[in-house]
Amino acid sequence: MLDPVVAIDRLRAAFGGPTQHRTLHAKGRFYGGTFTPTPEAGELCRAGHLHAPTPVTVRWSNAGGNAAVPDEKPDIRGMAVKFRLADGTATDLLGQTSPRFPTDDPETFVAMTEASVKPATFPLFLLRHPRMIPALAAGIAGKAVGSPVSFAEVTFYPIHAYGWLDADGRRTWVRYVLVPTATADDRLDQTFEGPDRLSAEMAARLARGPVTHELRVQLAGDGHDPHSATSVWAGAREIVAGRIEVTELLPDPEEGGTPTVFDPTRVVDGIELSDDPILRYRPSAYTESVHRRA
Ligand code: HEM
Repeated sequence: MLDPVVAIDRLRAAFGGPTQHRTLHAKGRFYGGTFTPTPEAGELCRAGHLHAPTPVTVRWSNAGGNAAVPDEKPDIRGMAVKFRLADGTATDLLGQTSPRFPTDDPETFVAMTEASVKPATFPLFLLRHPRMIPALAAGIAGKAVGSPVSFAEVTFYPIHAYGWLDADGRRTWVRYVLVPTATADDRLDQTFEGPDRLSAEMAARLARGPVTHELRVQLAGDGHDPHSATSVWAGAREIVAGRIEVTELLPDPEEGGTPTVFDPTRVVDGIELSDDPILRYRPSAYTESVHRRA
């Protein structure tokens, strides 16, 4: 398996961003709000945040590793959510705009990221990794790499499956999708320009009212593999698990020098990790990135 120190060295070299920023998703802002679950989710999962309204910290980001790149440039975008449970524990969900992940191998992900910042090398990379093409094509069809008008209109995919345990310990494998309720019809009258136009737009939008994403989950059926980031769950039943309502911009909690970390393996009682190799690898890379920026 790729040494996480090497992975972070390579990703940092690709973007050339300053060390005090995240290696990926370098540019982002923190927001506060509330998650309200549905009864259907509570029946399938005993985790505390699926039984009572729960405060959340959200970070919307651009995926690149250089925070100086203006919002206008096409990029994948991220939405990280920290659910702060009443008992003092927390669980994280990290979504990005690609509906499918193209590989189960961290080395290939790093190589793809390197190739994507040098577009002339990308066709050769694809020739060497033809099995990635359907997932990348799904990203193009879903406008995963774009320049949205607002984070409020974007759908985010957390990719990995998680095991939901109900009150009797019965397990359902689920995959999340964060679906916006905002549409092009309720855009602000104002237009926003400049390198930070997404955060300016969000500030104005929040002054008008909350920004909501529905948390939907697909429920695994026969033949749906929960242990791979690349598996496709064709025809899976979907339920609404709740709504994330963002109400305010938060002061940057990292300004004092203490990093805030979103970790896709941070779970609470009632939620289990799969054996997905990408999911299992991520904490080692994130820890190394946090170590460098701390
Ligand atoms: C092998 C695969 C991956 C690697 C090596 C990787 C690496 C990283 C690193 C190093 C960071 C910065 C962490 C920090 O300094 O706090 C990061 C952030 C992030 N990653 Fe990944 N990542 C991978 C896969 C994914 C996947 C599959 C998703 C989404 C489904 C994702 C979504 C995010 C998001 C949203 C952030 C920003 C979190 C924040 O706002 O703090 N990543 N990633």
